[in-house]
Amino acid sequence: MITRILLLLLVLLTACPGADGNSAISGQIFLDLNKNSIKDGTDSARSGWVVWLDGNNNGLPDASEPKTLTDANGNYKLSNIAAGSYQVRHEMPVGYGSSVAATGANLNQQIVGGTNAPSGKWKAIVALLNSATTDPFQAQFCGGSLIAPDWVLTAAHCLVDSNNVVRAASSVNVAIGITKLASPLTRISVSQIIIHPSYIRPSFDNDIALLKLSSQSNADAVLPLLPSQTALAATGVNAPIVGWGTLSEGGSSPTDLQESSVPIVDQSTCVSQLAAEGSTVTANMICGGFPAGGIDTCQGDSGGPLYVSNQAGFRVAGIVSFGIGCARPNLPGVYTRVSNYDAWLASKISRGTPPNVAINIAAGEQKTQNFAVQTP
Ligand code: ARG
Repeated sequence: MITRILLLLLVLLTACPGADGNSAISGQIFLDLNKNSIKDGTDSARSGWVVWLDGNNNGLPDASEPKTLTDANGNYKLSNIAAGSYQVRHEMPVGYGSSVAATGANLNQQIVGGTNAPSGKWKAIVALLNSATTDPFQAQFCGGSLIAPDWVLTAAHCLVDSNNVVRAASSVNVAIGITKLASPLTRISVSQIIIHPSYIRPSFDNDIALLKLSSQSNADAVLPLLPSQTALAATGVNAPIVGWGTLSEGGSSPTDLQESSVPIVDQSTCVSQLAAEGSTVTANMICGGFPAGGIDTCQGDSGGPLYVSNQAGFRVAGIVSFGIGCARPNLPGVYTRVSNYDAWLASKISRGTPPNVAINIAAGEQKTQNFAVQTP
């Protein structure tokens, strides 16, 4: 009997961590293209963003503060929080701003007659296309990632030739979130190309570049991995890779986007494996591949993503940069280590001030707080 009571107590204690056990704040973050602070049919969710209750109002998600990530539909929920006054904040990634804080009531409804644009698995994948070439299959020359409504992250070597001449922005188009390199597809033109100033050829150090789009995309963007999140890209982590590169070393290119994944390789192992072939792997690089080879990125995948995931979705941890052949044993693919470039990205892409919404929550109260984000 006593054990039964103890067991019951244990169950109750686990179910109700505190007197305020069922207080919760939930909501949604979405890209508000028409700036009406309502999630219209075409406004897309922002997944994987950090949301937290900034109890001490210092603008940082401190260890003691409840925090979560928006899920694949842009929703977050902070449950089992104590009654009190908080600032509800979300991180403000580069390229975003003007978050309009709007309380939930009418925002939680579905739009009558609204459509969910059918979209594939890799919504932020970008094909870089030669603007002068009509056939998308012929036009594709590299990959990229949409990281904000009007910014694409890619590799510098996709845009700089062996004489260090940078391509004209007008010669590049992008197609976002597509799988098939076939007409018809929507092309967006590029208004500016930014190459990392320390990009070095032929060593490929700092192989990172940005494309500013001439118009904003409503597609679900993917965020660059932050310096505070490098544990997500630890050795052995399975990292998805996608692209339209060749199907084998020196082989043919596919029309359909290919996906696979490779484990992140220990840095010193990668350094020595590539050194044996005369290549230098710097701290600005991250490697992925199997000891036995067989799976890898290859020619044409450059600029595209090496993803790692948090529980809400993906972050771009690497940019396809170079390799010794493709998929050879003990020669992992080398990727630009994106988390090293947070400061550089922030210096090139402006970002707005994170919103800061005061919420008082009583015991057992459920509140909704949505955020409509725009570009700065
Ligand atoms: N440099 C190649 C490109 O321009 C990417 C090669 C990646 N190679 C590898 N083995 N992972 O497409």
